[in-house]
Amino acid sequence: MALGGQLILLTGASGGIGRAIAQRLAARGAQLVLVGRAVDRLEGVRDILPGNHGIVPADIATAAGRARVAAAVDALGRPLDALINNAGVSRFTLLPDAAPADIEAQIATNVTAPILLTQLVLPRLHRVNGRIVNIGSSFGGIGHPGFSTYCASKFALRGFTEALRRELGDGAMQVAYLAPRATRTPLNDSAVDAMNAALGNAVDPPERVAAAVEAMLLAPVMRDRAIGWPERLFLRINAVFPALVDGALRKRLAAIKRFAAPAPNSP
Ligand SMILES: NC(=O)c1ccc[n+]([C@@H]2O[C@H](COP(=O)([O-])OP(=O)(O)OC[C@H]3O[C@@H](n4cnc5c(N)ncnc54)[C@H](OP(=O)(O)O)[C@@H]3O)[C@@H](O)[C@H]2O)c1
Repeated sequence: MALGGQLILLTGASGGIGRAIAQRLAARGAQLVLVGRAVDRLEGVRDILPGNHGIVPADIATAAGRARVAAAVDALGRPLDALINNAGVSRFTLLPDAAPADIEAQIATNVTAPILLTQLVLPRLHRVNGRIVNIGSSFGGIGHPGFSTYCASKFALRGFTEALRRELGDGAMQVAYLAPRATRTPLNDSAVDAMNAALGNAVDPPERVAAAVEAMLLAPVMRDRAIGWPERLFLRINAVFPALVDGALRKRLAAIKRFAAPAPNSP
């Protein structure tokens, strides 16, 4: 199925990965509805894209923001071909140091918002061709120290994806989950970058994630995907022998703790 002329709703369009997805899909002729909170950043993305695309400045963690997104889709007068739930936030910190507001924001943005937005958008998706791609993370399959809330949110998004796929299994709509590994975007602060460098973790350019999204949208049967090796192997090992990954991460724990953000008021 070609992407030319497809109508695609993309959240988090102004971020590192969202921008790369928007550029890739617009270059293939898709018509995009770009969602994010900061209007100037959305305009900045829209202005570099070929074609005509809509922007919807909206906080999808609020009911009013999600309603604004639905109204913008309705105004276009035709069904959506795809929803890409990509908006997300992350905070690298040990649990005792985590601000409750950061914990709530990660659950609201990464779990509650995509579930409620998907519920709102489902009747607006094409009955036959409609696709939903949820952008998760390798941390949605491997619990990692310093990211307990973020991991919880992405594990939840993965469970939501799997359950919804099965719920829609007697129809033609498709739902799948993409798990990028570390990717070079503003989501990761300098502490995450320093930790990744110290541990030798690979960090992908956002274009790699965008290419995976395109491949998923083009595949006749869309399947869950994880990006990167050895991350794909670790995900499988963790699913079957979590104690092995417990041991491997235990060896890295001192290094991880060195980089995790301290409590806001600590000396
Ligand atoms: N970067 C990585 O290492 C990595 C790895 C694996 C998975 N991921 C996942 O990839 C996705 C995109 O992340 P990224 O790296 O591109 O992050 P990013 O550069 O920080 O971009 C995040 C995007 O989400 C939007 N956003 C955040 N909260 C929002 C809200 N309440 N309402 C509407 N929009 C909101 C941001 O725009 P505004 O701030 O203007 O709202 C921005 O467009 C996320 O789901 C992330 O978890 C990232």
